[in-house]
Amino acid sequence: MTVANIFNNVSKHSQMFSFNIPLHMEHLAYAIMELEGNNMNYVVSNTVSLSELESYFSEDYVYFGDVVNMPETSDRQAGIIWELLSLRQGSPVLELGCGYGRIANRLAERGARVAGLDISPMLLKKAEADAAERGVNVEYVLGDMRSLPWRDRFDAAFLWYTTFGYFDDADNERVLREAASSLRKGGRLLIDHPNRLDFLRHKSPICYVAQRNDDVRIDIFSNDVLSDRSNLDRIIVRDGCVRRTNLSFRQYGFSEYVRMLRSAGFETVEAYGQEGGAFTYDSSRLVVVAYK
Ligand SMILES: C[S@@+](CC[C@H](N)C(=O)[O-])C[C@H]1O[C@@H](n2cnc3c(N)ncnc32)[C@H](O)[C@@H]1O
Repeated sequence: MTVANIFNNVSKHSQMFSFNIPLHMEHLAYAIMELEGNNMNYVVSNTVSLSELESYFSEDYVYFGDVVNMPETSDRQAGIIWELLSLRQGSPVLELGCGYGRIANRLAERGARVAGLDISPMLLKKAEADAAERGVNVEYVLGDMRSLPWRDRFDAAFLWYTTFGYFDDADNERVLREAASSLRKGGRLLIDHPNRLDFLRHKSPICYVAQRNDDVRIDIFSNDVLSDRSNLDRIIVRDGCVRRTNLSFRQYGFSEYVRMLRSAGFETVEAYGQEGGAFTYDSSRLVVVAYK
């Protein structure tokens, strides 16, 4: 039985989707995982293609965005980035993979001079519309983080919310070198990623469910122990249609970040846990801050 069949059957009984208790949705997700077990493709490629990025970061990504990161959460995250990067009024700052601008626009509201780069024209349009609504100016640029148009320009740059590691090691390191080149001497780079030590403590696959109205997003994470990549199989059930997308990303440990960042031109590297707290074995996030 395929996921599409399951949801076709389930959606005939729409009361299945009217539960307000997220646990029920998780049970549904686990049931799907069991049924899908044999169909799931655990062979993780060592890079993500442009077409995979496009289908993953689609309109569905925006639709569930505010459910997963409520506006208050995005406000708080912008505050943490502001502090960790020691931003000031007028600081020139670059967000790589800025998505629909939920962080970039908030930093602009706080007074930074923000540029945001993304590979998706659709997400950049949303970011610009949101900036206009908030009455802020952000320089949104369509481009690939593996090749940046700036040199020695920014005080700070950041990749927030698992926006690093999509490519093979050579291209991931290229992103770091490009980020370093875009920064002035003394500039800071921040990368926020899941903490792989914590990730690996949980039995793989792990399942997360987000619900908006009668629509559901199910994420099934699995780890590939040979390549140190995590694979995310995403199932979207929206307006009676089922779509599947997939993304994988490399999970680097802190010592690997230190090696890569030093070789990219940074002098010192610090580690923080989620929201800028202490980094420990069971921190859910690893936030790396490097100084050029
Ligand atoms: C997980 S989202 C994070 C968005 C944003 N940082 C946030 O916190 O909401 C990753 C973003 O990176 C963008 N992206 C992926 N590959 C990229 C690339 N090679 N160059 C530029 N942007 C890229 C995607 O389009 C997406 O908007």
